[in-house]
Amino acid sequence: MSTPKEYKLYIDGEWLDSVSGETFASDNPARPKQILGTFQKGCKEDVDKAIEAAEEAFPKWSQTPAPKRGLVLLRAAQMLRENKEELAKEMTMEMGKIIQESRGDVQEAIDITEYMAGEGRRMLGSTTSSELRRKLCFTIRMPVGICGLITPWNFPIAIPAWKIMTALICGNTVVFKPSSDTPLCATRLVEVLNKSGLPNGILNMVTGSGDDAGMALVKHEKVGAISFTGHKDTGAHILREAGLKRVGLEMGGKNGIIVMDDADLNLALEGVIWGGYGTTGQRCTAASRVIVHEKIKSRFEGMIVDRTRKLKLGDGLEPETNVGPLINKAAQEKSAGYVEVGKREGAKLLVGGKIPEMEGFFFEPTLFTDCAIEMRIAQEEIFGPVISLISIKDFDEAIDVMNSVEYGFSSAIYTRDVGRACEAITRIKAGLTYINSSTTGSEVHLPFGGVKHTGIGTREGGIAGINEFSEIKTVYIDYSGRLQRAQIDIE
Ligand code: UN1
Repeated sequence: MSTPKEYKLYIDGEWLDSVSGETFASDNPARPKQILGTFQKGCKEDVDKAIEAAEEAFPKWSQTPAPKRGLVLLRAAQMLRENKEELAKEMTMEMGKIIQESRGDVQEAIDITEYMAGEGRRMLGSTTSSELRRKLCFTIRMPVGICGLITPWNFPIAIPAWKIMTALICGNTVVFKPSSDTPLCATRLVEVLNKSGLPNGILNMVTGSGDDAGMALVKHEKVGAISFTGHKDTGAHILREAGLKRVGLEMGGKNGIIVMDDADLNLALEGVIWGGYGTTGQRCTAASRVIVHEKIKSRFEGMIVDRTRKLKLGDGLEPETNVGPLINKAAQEKSAGYVEVGKREGAKLLVGGKIPEMEGFFFEPTLFTDCAIEMRIAQEEIFGPVISLISIKDFDEAIDVMNSVEYGFSSAIYTRDVGRACEAITRIKAGLTYINSSTTGSEVHLPFGGVKHTGIGTREGGIAGINEFSEIKTVYIDYSGRLQRAQIDIE
């Protein structure tokens, strides 16, 4: 086998070795012997350099009119479009998701880039009347400064693009620390964006471990904002270590789909299979709980089992594959561990539950039924293709079950009753609720994020995303020619 290519850090428009002198490899989870490349193990000194470059590039970029920044993004979107197929293929090789989903991931990156390019022509503030005569008041948006973006492997192009494009359109400069499971996707994303002619220093990338490179970024005094997507324990750690800077967090989920007795069961089945087993269950928005009305429970269970048995595991590049591998061995062991937990807790395993005899980090799509809400498999995020089915006797109980977990990311209900659907919208504690659709499939111009331990009130996407990466300045213009004291000189 030929030696894998060695990739570099990207700082100030140049591809550089890490000061650490160390590298790490990235493999293909469907064929772990296939090494896709080696990457720099970035350290604090590298992060310092990247921050210096971002600091230097900041004055010019932040003062570039936002519509012009938008044009830079538009060229970036065009480059992403031209490289879509290649990026998707590399993504499937590096993280295992099936090729159609990888294309969707790249498409989402294109969408956010085009959307944010357009936002460059808005950058809306607000205006209102002053309480005094001859005085104007309004707000403008200012960039935050240097943004540290720490991203996961499950959407290895889309999530970095959400953060990068939003930060850049607001006039910030960026240091990007991607997940060590998908450094190739990150590097290829930066290469493609680089080809579109981004000014040097506005986007820098440091690969390496979270403990080292990630924490250096989180703690750095010159960083104005950190945006992180990943595990809740890491998020909590970041929040403790970040000091006085903005922090945006997107963390876990234990998302549920409610299937009422009046639901279109065929439609609900599609939603359950897609939400539960799509991306091999490795989505913050994955449907890992199915909350089913007792009247239709046994019929619906049977439908899920039949469909699950037909799913074909394999390399995501092969067209007949329905479910790819998990990201790594630890993830495979985690799913297997939870199956043991579920059995011990007394849940009934209906299908799957094993590591199949295949090369690669595969895990059988798994369905547990008769789960009680306090069981760990009904409470904890597994991040694998494991669904816990819980039966309920009425709508009120369904809502209680839905809200019984520490997370509040996505949620869904299948019902034909409009009133019930509306009630679910107002009673489910989550950042996202889908009616007659699965828990996944957010669109980039709408806010994305969750409540409870899923987040801390921050959102990505749309104007809500712009709010995370811009500061609001309030401006008062007094043209009365005299001192007008607010609250005092009120005639
Ligand atoms: C995630 O799982 O972290 O709505 C992101 C969705 C995708 C993004 C998921 N557009 O499921």
